[in-house]
Amino acid sequence: MYKKIAIVTGAVKGIGKSIGKQLSNDGFFIIIVDIDETGANKIIETIGKDGSQFFRCDICNAEDVTKLYEMVFETYGRIDVVVNNAGIIRDNMIWKMSKEDFDFVVDVNLKGTWMMCKEAAKIMREQKFGKIINIASRAWLGNNRGQSNYTASKAGIVGLTRVLALELGKYNVNVNAVAPGLIDTPLTRALPEKVMQRLIEAQPTKKVGKTEDIANVVSFLVSEKSNFITGQIIHVDGGRSIGSTIF
Ligand SMILES: NC(=O)c1ccc[n+]([C@@H]2O[C@H](COP(=O)([O-])OP(=O)(O)OC[C@H]3O[C@@H](n4cnc5c(N)ncnc54)[C@H](O)[C@@H]3O)[C@@H](O)[C@H]2O)c1
Repeated sequence: MYKKIAIVTGAVKGIGKSIGKQLSNDGFFIIIVDIDETGANKIIETIGKDGSQFFRCDICNAEDVTKLYEMVFETYGRIDVVVNNAGIIRDNMIWKMSKEDFDFVVDVNLKGTWMMCKEAAKIMREQKFGKIINIASRAWLGNNRGQSNYTASKAGIVGLTRVLALELGKYNVNVNAVAPGLIDTPLTRALPEKVMQRLIEAQPTKKVGKTEDIANVVSFLVSEKSNFITGQIIHVDGGRSIGSTIF
């Protein structure tokens, strides 16, 4: 019998990589899911040596997602945890945003997460255990200009999380979301310095979060300590969801 199995999407870098590392320390075998194959070997050494496997899967491709779950269930016979972390941004004011950039962001962030949840639900409902964690964003609250596509996708994830908690609760499957604020990752490092400074200024705590801040909360939500928590959106954002201190 294998130890507990956790699938983590977008685990090659950023927040997903930290989640993978943390859950590996917590004793899970990690299925590292990503479209980025270049860093895959290195990542296996970082995330749970001898305790992880890389699987290339584009979460917006239904065939890839089906193959992923078939492989995991046939090989390991169980799926304890799914962390839907993979996500992208394509920011612009709505009058300049292309339909392609809207579709792309909603496809990856929302439809991809929905497809991952659907396959997880089929298995977890049957096995009568499981925990799904969806990584949303503090932006779901709708207080970022230039993110109409991203906000729509993340607000969708919040709604999806709540409905799935209702649908799966009686099968002993908990579904929660974590909504990160400003976190230091390759995604935010790509932002212009001026934008980053302004974002930090707006933070009540005047700090950028670390990927480990998110991983710690995920670790709690997949542990037995959180068994009575489902359908919740946990903001991990240095207080930014309360409001901005400059706007
Ligand atoms: N960094 C932040 O400040 C922040 C804030 C709020 C929410 N988030 C959310 O946290 C999550 C991770 O963000 P990050 O900053 O670590 O991003 P990142 O860009 O550093 O890493 C994202 C990973 O997802 C993978 N990925 C992208 N599209 C994919 C697809 N279609 N299928 C499979 N894998 C795919 C990428 O290859 C990459 O490894 C995202 O959902 C993001 O929206 C991040």
